[in-house]
Amino acid sequence: MDADELTAPVTIGVEAYISEDYARAERDNLWRKVWQQVGRVEDLPKVGSYLTYDILDDSVVVVRTADNTFRAHHNVCMHRGRRLVDMPEGAKSACGHKKSFVCGFHGWTYDQDGNCIHIPEKADWQGSLTPGNTHLAPVNVDTWGGWVWINMDPAAGPLRDYLEPAATMLDPFRLQDMRCKWRKWLYFQCNWKVAMEAFNETYHVATTHPQFNKFGNFRGWAAAHGRHSNIGYDAPKDLEETKSKIRLGTGSDPRVSTAEMQLYTLEETNATTTKTLVDAAKRLVDELPEDAAADKVLEHWLASARRDDAARGVIWPTIDPKHLADSGTAWQIFPNFQIGQGLTTALCYSARPHGYDPHQCIFEAACYELFPKGEEPQTEWVYAPPDDPGWRSVLPQDFSNMAAVQQGMKSLGFGGPRPNPYMERSIANLHRNLAQYMGTGAPRQLATELER
Ligand code: FES
Ligand SMILES: [Fe+2]
Repeated sequence: MDADELTAPVTIGVEAYISEDYARAERDNLWRKVWQQVGRVEDLPKVGSYLTYDILDDSVVVVRTADNTFRAHHNVCMHRGRRLVDMPEGAKSACGHKKSFVCGFHGWTYDQDGNCIHIPEKADWQGSLTPGNTHLAPVNVDTWGGWVWINMDPAAGPLRDYLEPAATMLDPFRLQDMRCKWRKWLYFQCNWKVAMEAFNETYHVATTHPQFNKFGNFRGWAAAHGRHSNIGYDAPKDLEETKSKIRLGTGSDPRVSTAEMQLYTLEETNATTTKTLVDAAKRLVDELPEDAAADKVLEHWLASARRDDAARGVIWPTIDPKHLADSGTAWQIFPNFQIGQGLTTALCYSARPHGYDPHQCIFEAACYELFPKGEEPQTEWVYAPPDDPGWRSVLPQDFSNMAAVQQGMKSLGFGGPRPNPYMERSIANLHRNLAQYMGTGAPRQLATELER
């Protein structure tokens, strides 16, 4: 099945979500083969800054070794296999700064490039320990979008090739210039795919987040692009000309509904919009006549927000309107990273297994924004369980589906997900690609299923 065929209705087997054998097989067939985002470039500010990334049995340590050079190695000492950099209690990764890495067991010492530079009593090995056989085991590393990416497969192709066409579509958004406004992680009682699939479609919005319905009728789309996919909203009828990706409130008075939706979004998600956009939206009622057409409202609102940001040193990227429309609201980077890109802000999610239990995952959410130079906040990853009030009200609505979906997947009465062929195509595309890595679990044409 190729991406074009995903316009037809499909059904997906539940094995990918609930089978322990499948979860174990993912280690070798998926996680040890794909490029994975492991942190931000700005988290490694100096030569010697490092971070670790753990997934199932593997731990990788990434180090900045020069101004624009990063090295990644398996986080394991070549003497007797002790984990080289320990994980702090209760953390999801280790980070810091080191001139060299000293193994806590017998003191073998590695430099930032992974060379073993000190072995106590080395002569006892009678010359058999060489630079080649004591060097830490290398892992591919590269950067794109301001993120550091690793790939454990020695035969992996370049990151850029892997990311296309998402990289080219997202480059104009200058994600590398954004900085974290907040970032949080938590465990969910569901498979990592269930967690990603709670955010890679817009079909759930009307029911899971009914409070948005009053701001207008939004119909979302999803498109497959090879390994990756993207989602967005169809422009409302009277905005078809502008084809904007930006959701304007389309209530009876778009000036009012836009301001209300922006304010609500900022207060209840603390993401996907900015104070500048909210303040500019609030002024619409004073700056535009009552009968202003929706496209004029959109144009005026964005132009005044752009000016306000420029005045405080935040320069918006200039993106061709067609490119903006085609890029949608979010990209799903195979297999487990979603980038929800905006002009001055981004909301990103990732999920990965938590051990081999297919019913658990580690989930990360990070909100990015363009800040004036020198005013970027310093943030760290914060553990925040689903009931932490800091999540505010919208994301917990999504969280409430996670464990309930996972439980339903195990039911004798469930034959597998049937994603909406228009609005949930990213789900079908994820499983189409997964099946290629895993050798099993390809989506099946729904029409060929037997009727009950
Ligand atoms: S296991 Fe690392 S020095 Fe012995
Ligand atoms: Fe949602």
